[in-house]
Amino acid sequence: MSKTNHAQWSSRFSFILAATGSAVGLGNIWKFPYMVGQSGGAAFVLVYLLCIFLIGLPILVTEWMLGRRGQSNPVTTMSKVAHSAGRTRAWALVGVSGVLGAFLILSFYSVIGGWSLYYTLGSVSGDFAGQSADGIGELFSGMLASPGLLLMWHSIFMLLVIGIVARGVTKGLEGAVNIMMPALALLLVVLIGYGMTTGHFGEAVAYLFNPDWSKLSGETVLAALGHAFFTLSLGMGIMLAYGSYLGQEVNLIKTARTVVIMDTVIALGAGLAIFPIVFANNLDLASGPSLIFVTLPVAFGNIGGGTILGLLFFVLLTFAALTSAISLLEPVTEFLEERTPLSRAPAAIVAGLAAWALGIAALLSFNLWSDFTVVGLGVFDLLDKLTSKFMLPLTGLGAVVFAAWFLNRDEVRKDLELSDSGFTLWTLLTRFVAPIGVLVVFIASL
Ligand code: PHE
Ligand code: NA
Repeated sequence: MSKTNHAQWSSRFSFILAATGSAVGLGNIWKFPYMVGQSGGAAFVLVYLLCIFLIGLPILVTEWMLGRRGQSNPVTTMSKVAHSAGRTRAWALVGVSGVLGAFLILSFYSVIGGWSLYYTLGSVSGDFAGQSADGIGELFSGMLASPGLLLMWHSIFMLLVIGIVARGVTKGLEGAVNIMMPALALLLVVLIGYGMTTGHFGEAVAYLFNPDWSKLSGETVLAALGHAFFTLSLGMGIMLAYGSYLGQEVNLIKTARTVVIMDTVIALGAGLAIFPIVFANNLDLASGPSLIFVTLPVAFGNIGGGTILGLLFFVLLTFAALTSAISLLEPVTEFLEERTPLSRAPAAIVAGLAAWALGIAALLSFNLWSDFTVVGLGVFDLLDKLTSKFMLPLTGLGAVVFAAWFLNRDEVRKDLELSDSGFTLWTLLTRFVAPIGVLVVFIASL
């Protein structure tokens, strides 16, 4: 991509595909279900949905709007937009913390991407066939206990990401998203169908949607908020960067609605697929990051055509993880490319290798370094909590406060193509509901 002539997406449709590619990923299928399990079910889910629609959606639109105005990497964009609104360039800090957040997330995201690759192989070699839930659990702990195995798959995953970003072919993947996303959704439907045969489907639905409010704490609400940011790829400069490739004719609010709905449907679908298996096999609801890797293979090992379905599922999961990981490396690369003498390929390699190295520390926290903790957390947990619970919400808060309070209101209204009443609602959400929501959650969790 040339440095002076910033390219644009060919159409609203291809933009939606790219944004969906970033949003839908491990966050939906791997992380959402295990967070539900750790937080006790429906109360978490409902708070999460509120966070998505009242806070996430407005911030998604805000990030795109800022990115479209700035037409540049997240840091330059924030600095430019602030300057032209007569404000201090210090707002660029929002972009800086976004880029940093993306980098930190990429490091551990790639480790999980590696698990997905390993399980792809596991399904081809028939590792799951006829296995009991116990057997599958042992397979997983075996993997976690082996630094070499984790390192190998983390490295392969990261190499794929670097290769794609370095060659600047990320846009070539849009078309693939168009096929893979529906296929992934369809497979989830098949797995939900399997869940219905276990006799524990009703239990799972109640667990997901019938809240026990006593399970709610400040800590849970903060987790729900953080995950809303994570799942929509907010607060890390990604949507800022994507917005920079966006033409003026695209309606941001409609587009955001589409992306948010797809992301939410996939996450809830994953929950509906996984929890019947958890209940049917008496698995530990709160087992954490291992949850999908010890549940879904049980289904694959026990249904007709399970080998093929398992293979297909993990290929699609890996692909969804790849399109998200690419979007994580993209803003860091774009930043290095525009702000340092590095050209695209070296920029992607430098950023990717640095994240890879940090990822090694994350994967060692599952075995050799399991005793090493900072504030009670291993490296993997630390990276995860630091980004989701603090960096993303605070960065998103910075972006929305800036846009709602410090930009010319007529211009914002024009940018968003809003009617009078629509703009009143928008103002209410972005000036008050979203920022106060984030702050209250922070204070409540202290
Ligand atoms: N949104 C992605 C997911 O849900 C993860 C991600 C986070 C991607 C941050 C990009 C940036 O898996
Ligand atoms: Na997501």
